[in-house]
Amino acid sequence: MADDDKTYQASPGSDPRTAPMAVRGPSAPGAVTPPSGGPVRTVPVAVPGPRPPGAPKPPGGPVAGAPKPAGPPATPPARPVPPVQAKAPPPSNTPPPARPPAAPPPQAKAPAAPASPRNDVLSPLPEKALGEFKELETLAKASSLDLDPELEKAVGFTHFDTSASEDNLITVLTTRKDMHQLASQTLVRVKSREDKRSYLGVVVRGPFSEPDAIAANSTMAVGVVVQGKKMSYTFDYHGRADIEILGEEVGGALSAPKLRPRPKSPVFVLDEQESARVLGLKGSMCIGMVAGHERMEARLDPRDKSILPRHTGIIGTTGGGKSTTVATLIHHAQAAGIATIVFDVEGEYTHVDQPTDHAAMLAALARRGQKAEGVKDLHIHHLTGRDSRNPRHKNLHRFSLNFSSLSPYAISEILGMSEAQQERFHKAYDVTKLLLEDFKIFPRNEEEHQQMLDVDELSTGYPRMTLQHILDVVNTYLYTLSDEGKSESKSRSKSPSRRRGAAEEDPESEEGADSEGGDAPPRGPQLKSEFRGNPGRVLGRVMAQSSKNEISWKALMGKLQNLRRLKIFDVDTAPGVDHGAMLEPGRVSVIDLSDTDSPQLNNLVIADILRGLQETQEARYQAANAQGKSITPVLIVLEEAHEFLSASRISQMPVLFEQVAKIAKRGRKRWLGLVFVTQLPQHLPNEVLGLLNNFIIHKITDSSVISRMQKTAGSIDESLWNRVSRLAPGQALVSFSNFTRPLMVAVDPAPVKRLLVD
Ligand SMILES: Nc1ncnc2c1ncn2[C@@H]1O[C@H](COP(=O)(O)OP(=O)(O)OP(=O)(O)O)[C@@H](O)[C@H]1O
Ligand SMILES: [Mg+2]
Repeated sequence: MADDDKTYQASPGSDPRTAPMAVRGPSAPGAVTPPSGGPVRTVPVAVPGPRPPGAPKPPGGPVAGAPKPAGPPATPPARPVPPVQAKAPPPSNTPPPARPPAAPPPQAKAPAAPASPRNDVLSPLPEKALGEFKELETLAKASSLDLDPELEKAVGFTHFDTSASEDNLITVLTTRKDMHQLASQTLVRVKSREDKRSYLGVVVRGPFSEPDAIAANSTMAVGVVVQGKKMSYTFDYHGRADIEILGEEVGGALSAPKLRPRPKSPVFVLDEQESARVLGLKGSMCIGMVAGHERMEARLDPRDKSILPRHTGIIGTTGGGKSTTVATLIHHAQAAGIATIVFDVEGEYTHVDQPTDHAAMLAALARRGQKAEGVKDLHIHHLTGRDSRNPRHKNLHRFSLNFSSLSPYAISEILGMSEAQQERFHKAYDVTKLLLEDFKIFPRNEEEHQQMLDVDELSTGYPRMTLQHILDVVNTYLYTLSDEGKSESKSRSKSPSRRRGAAEEDPESEEGADSEGGDAPPRGPQLKSEFRGNPGRVLGRVMAQSSKNEISWKALMGKLQNLRRLKIFDVDTAPGVDHGAMLEPGRVSVIDLSDTDSPQLNNLVIADILRGLQETQEARYQAANAQGKSITPVLIVLEEAHEFLSASRISQMPVLFEQVAKIAKRGRKRWLGLVFVTQLPQHLPNEVLGLLNNFIIHKITDSSVISRMQKTAGSIDESLWNRVSRLAPGQALVSFSNFTRPLMVAVDPAPVKRLLVD
């Protein structure tokens, strides 16, 4: 066959019933060859108008060889039939644009003889041609009887395997006409009819266009493309796509495939409804639209224990859309009755109870048919002595931290104590505990005694211990190591302590002012807590556990004073955070950390509030379980998570990390979901990334970060990762534990107002 014919060759797999009808006649260059399996005949091609002689007619038009109907036919043909070209002209270099020829359906009737005077110019259909039409009709009918009606809906067929075939991947060939149906990420069903098995799969590569009967890299194929300006001629081609097998359909469920679909198994595209079902997209929370589908929404069930409580990472470079996604998530979580707590390092979520006024967001909302609206129940919490970005909000809560809730191990980590300082700190801590009992501060009764035994100092502090208590004890140690202290202790048996002690080491010490002006300076360590009522007792306890190395004690004192200077612990006028209130259904609590400008301080706050939330939720969970009730789900969002959980920080602060890991592990059962947001996932150690089961991955440009994430979120295939560096703002690769496979999603714009970050 001449090369020219290729343009009109029916692609493999095309439906013979829709292929061009063959009409006996003189074979000529530019003639149409019917599909394989059909009668091998050629059709002279009609060339309309200014087409150069010999140029084949563009496909899709009517069948050549049939006369034009004269006037309205008694039984009109499915398509008009053009006049017959008497003689096929010589071949030309300017063939028509490549499109497969569409032909009238087999039922097309031969046109009737002219009935209208308007058509007098045309000669009536010759008897011979009429006879051929009849014959064709019979042939078409016969071949359509042979065709399995099921195959009519097939969009392609599985190809034979080669030595390059990979497990779980299968190549599907399709016609040029159908290849658009095998768009990337399309879900398909492969019916391996030969062995009566059915598989579900997804297009992961392609669809590629391959020329029929010639290699794409052949000189001819390359030539016609290179000469695209001069030549309209091209080879006919078919589509090829690689399909990843998701599983074999057995009894309505998907099971791991043991075999592969046989060659030439028909492939069918699932409709959107079935695709959504197969992908596991169900639930009241919609986070956006699945790319490549008209109306498929990426949905999840906020009340499904196996989704949000299994923790989520929102990852991507600056401007990728992370915060918008968080804002959208907050809005949906609030609507779903989830208690949402956001650690807001920049204060950007302090206005989420107002509708967005961001022009681009309003436009995006309008496109999605959604409206701007704020969340209903917003509360803003900020540290005492620090400002909020929404200082006039009606639900503004100032809070201080309770020293008693911080693990001594976490404190020593946060303050970066040396080993010598740590040792002294823990010694002072133990002496303080004894003094709390001596001074009947804690425990006061049998119940509290039991509570004391239960304290886990790796995760929490000692009940009712304040920073001032421990400062008093450290002060006393310093006093005992000072010259005055040493002589004092020698004469202690003779007289009570008299000298002012190491409190003088504290440049900010408020008691310095108190003590000045007196004729006789007070003796013994200057104490400020309840311990001041009996300094002798404190001195006694300290001396019973004596210690050396004044320098380490001084350094420790310096660090604890730094902590005190933050003025965030045990402030009488600012209560601690009300964790119970934060866990109320549908409440959004934003912890505004915008004014702290100290990652160390942020870490203190985050660690303390996380622990409080976890304990409160744990108690609620136990109570709800005992009563057979359900518990309010909680979502905790941590912006700039790398600041809190970076690898270097975790190596410095293993106890803090252990606390987070514990919350993450327990949270799974207690309806407590964590959301870590970061543009620097490479700073998060594997231990942290390993806590995450869900990912919303916005644009990432750094290939080393992509490959790191590839290892972390292993279920995401290569074809999706390839797109991550080119994602537009708001687009994300989303992998949730309820999704059968990860999806490309256009995340919904945020209807709430978000403040800009400098
Ligand atoms: N889902 C979305 N729909 C429409 N526009 C979006 C969406 N997400 C992001 N954008 C656009 O991209 C901009 C940047 O988004 P966003 O601030 O959420 O990024 P980010 O990843 O949080 O950046 P940064 O790392 O700087 O905090 C938005 O102001 C908005 O214009
Ligand atoms: Mg952001």
